[in-house]
Amino acid sequence: VKMSSMDLEKLKMTGAGRAMAVLTSGGDAQGMNAAVRAVTRMGIYVGAKVYLIYEGYQGLVDGGDNIKLAHWQSVTNIIQQGGTVIGSARCKAFTTREGRLAAAFNLVKKGITNLCVCGGDGSLTGANIFRSEWSSLLDELVQKGRITDTLARQHGHLNIVGLVGSIDNDFCGTDMTIGADSALHRIMEIIDAIMTTAQSHQRTFVLEVMGRHCGYLALVSALASGADWLLIPEAPPQEGWEDCMCSRLEGSRITGSRLNIIIIAEGAIDRNGKPITSTYVKDLVVQRLGYDTRVTVLGHVQRGGTPSAFDRVLSSKLGMEAVIALLEATPDTPACAIGLSGNRAVRLPLMECVEMTKLVQTAMNEKRFDEAVKLRGGSFENNWNIYKLLAFEKPIQSGSNFSLAILNVGAPAAGMNAAVRSAARLALAQGHKVYAVQDGFQGLANGELFEMEWHSVAGWTGQGGSLLGTKRTLPNKHMEKIVETIIKFNISALLVIGGFEGYAGVLQLFEARSHYDELCIPMCVIPATISNNVPGTDFSLGADTAVNAAMEGCDKIKQSASGTKRRVFVVETMGGFCGYLATCTGIAVGADAAYIFEDPFNIHDLKTNVEHLTEKMKKDVQRGLVLRNENCHENYTTDFIHRLYSSEGKGIFDCRVNVLGHLQQGGAPSPFDRNFGTKLGVKATQWISERLTENFRQGRVIANSPDTACVLGLNRKVISFIPVTELKDVTDFEHRMPKVQWWFNLRPMLKMLAKYQTSFCEYVPGEIEHVTRQINRTKKQNSTWQTSLF
Ligand SMILES: *[C@@H]1O[C@H](CO)[C@@H](O)[C@H](O)[C@H]1NC(C)=O
Ligand SMILES: *[C@@H]1O[C@H](CO)[C@@H](O)[C@H](O)[C@H]1NC(C)=O
Ligand SMILES: *[C@@H]1O[C@H](CO)[C@@H](O)[C@H](O)[C@H]1NC(C)=O
Repeated sequence: VKMSSMDLEKLKMTGAGRAMAVLTSGGDAQGMNAAVRAVTRMGIYVGAKVYLIYEGYQGLVDGGDNIKLAHWQSVTNIIQQGGTVIGSARCKAFTTREGRLAAAFNLVKKGITNLCVCGGDGSLTGANIFRSEWSSLLDELVQKGRITDTLARQHGHLNIVGLVGSIDNDFCGTDMTIGADSALHRIMEIIDAIMTTAQSHQRTFVLEVMGRHCGYLALVSALASGADWLLIPEAPPQEGWEDCMCSRLEGSRITGSRLNIIIIAEGAIDRNGKPITSTYVKDLVVQRLGYDTRVTVLGHVQRGGTPSAFDRVLSSKLGMEAVIALLEATPDTPACAIGLSGNRAVRLPLMECVEMTKLVQTAMNEKRFDEAVKLRGGSFENNWNIYKLLAFEKPIQSGSNFSLAILNVGAPAAGMNAAVRSAARLALAQGHKVYAVQDGFQGLANGELFEMEWHSVAGWTGQGGSLLGTKRTLPNKHMEKIVETIIKFNISALLVIGGFEGYAGVLQLFEARSHYDELCIPMCVIPATISNNVPGTDFSLGADTAVNAAMEGCDKIKQSASGTKRRVFVVETMGGFCGYLATCTGIAVGADAAYIFEDPFNIHDLKTNVEHLTEKMKKDVQRGLVLRNENCHENYTTDFIHRLYSSEGKGIFDCRVNVLGHLQQGGAPSPFDRNFGTKLGVKATQWISERLTENFRQGRVIANSPDTACVLGLNRKVISFIPVTELKDVTDFEHRMPKVQWWFNLRPMLKMLAKYQTSFCEYVPGEIEHVTRQINRTKKQNSTWQTSLF
């Protein structure tokens, strides 16, 4: 059932007279607060009464003060906090019918028949049992004389919706669970720290990360850090792995590596299902190789800290969708969980997903490991295959005689180096010669190329900026010299990793093909820019890091005002004309407004916003935050907005300006960008190799069709290569961005969460995704380009 865009104003009516409650259960996960906030505010927005249930199911069973009516302000300033402010507890009582009877009584007394549960698969299963027993529980309450028959009849049905909060990312059906990305942030911070200390000593680190049944965190951190060895429960090592691992470590020492990292998931096992412990691995390395080896067990650190931007935006999106799902639920619709598919919220049949998740465990118990990896989903399998591909140098069978040149173009963006690394390594493994070009198209014109080896890119994934050097120069004025370089180095393919200039540059090269045969070679653009404005893709490398950097900046700015002063901050973000950065940062920090170029505003909007903020400040809110994209308006400059707010706020609040500037290019890349860069590098090289073989005739490569000069993009869930020339029609060259941008549908959410009167005409509710179909797709693997971001 595909739902079309609908006017949510209508939903607003259906929310009136309803009561809904939200609770968090099981292990806490970063991002749960953002979910609670979104459910609460969306609930209030649609006119429903929203209750917060404290201490998870225990609070539901105990009732009393644990179930509190929420106001708009109840969830102010919680989005940046880790854990869950409404508490979570393990609850024995709720597993008994008696406990659930008490819970039903507490809910029905308050007229609550809509429940949103944020927790792991156990918690969600509990919710489903509660739902199916609901009417019999009410009958029992009537029998015992605790509630009236009328009351029971009025509340005959309980609607349940689940949000999956789990740092392990172990729930089938959704691309990401709430908290997993933040956990990866914590792990990568620790790995980065270890890498710096280890430079001074030769050391081996055995790093144990969480995941008793699911190796996702271990796998992605290994991929993002280029770890030497990885042990996960889904894919136990072959017999004799101890020898392999030791020779791998020795090999990397010989080639000059001073640090070895072994990542092990808590639940790692061998082929017989016997646990492999971190101490066992450490002793092995010490005894066999005599290396100085340390074990680091990360433990609860992974649940700590502030939620990542990804988790905050994800939770807000899912929380809002949960409310709509509750409003639309009927006694016949099965309980659903809200999940993420590509960049959209989708509704999943809760119990089918739980069943699927259990199948993975069964497969592992029965030692059908290949199946376990497959059942985890296409993205897990893809990560696993790429890890294996890049982890260690393989002997090259034979040279291919093809040379690939890799360059960075535009402003530096986090993740560029990860993409260079994986592209170079895979190309080398395929027998190509790989040249790194310094300083973009300028360097290509000047012949600043050097040959790369497997080890030239060691440790590149974790480095920010561009190690190759990058420039904004476009090829147009240097075409002759570029062609000379291509001839001189006999280059048969170009990989351009960069932003809008990268796209525009390759388009120029493509258009010059009619003049120069030498340009008839495969060319690929990997989009990499903090602005996320490259046509042909939903996401660019570096955008996630930038949003995180801007978000951390705003968190600190907001915190600086904690105390007595009432203050509004006007914060200017980068992004050129593209409002992605401002919009996502706005959602992640709970901004009061985010002005962007694409969403035109006039003096009336400014007036409404100022008055709205002034009203808020008169009450108990102490801080306001308004984001402004650098090019959002020619005349309503940052200074103008600052002065406007200052004047209007006189006597109520003061106003300060912050220009975030280059900190948005971010230091170390986020785990998402490391992982995404690594995958895109691999996909690009695979594609280039295919085009090379396809277009090799009479001793040379002649690739002259449009589909040999492409942007490698991620569109929803599918990796696609779109010809640069086709993208011309959908590109606004003046403002350097795609004409249509998917994230625009995040704008109504931003406004709703900031409590503006907004029309939801543009909001498209989540589709209903069928898990079984998803699984079948994964099983068949009909398209190698079917992938996901995670
Ligand atoms: C590469 O070129 C050499 C000589 O130029 C030739 O002998 C060899 O077969 C070529 N290899 C491939 C894979 O085409
Ligand atoms: C800004 O002001 C100038 C006049 O100074 C005017 O020509 C221009 O149209 C204004 N820009 C916008 C976007 O309104
Ligand atoms: C130049 O590259 C082509 C492939 O495009 C290859 O067949 C040829 O052997 C190379 N020539 C030299 C001299 O390496």
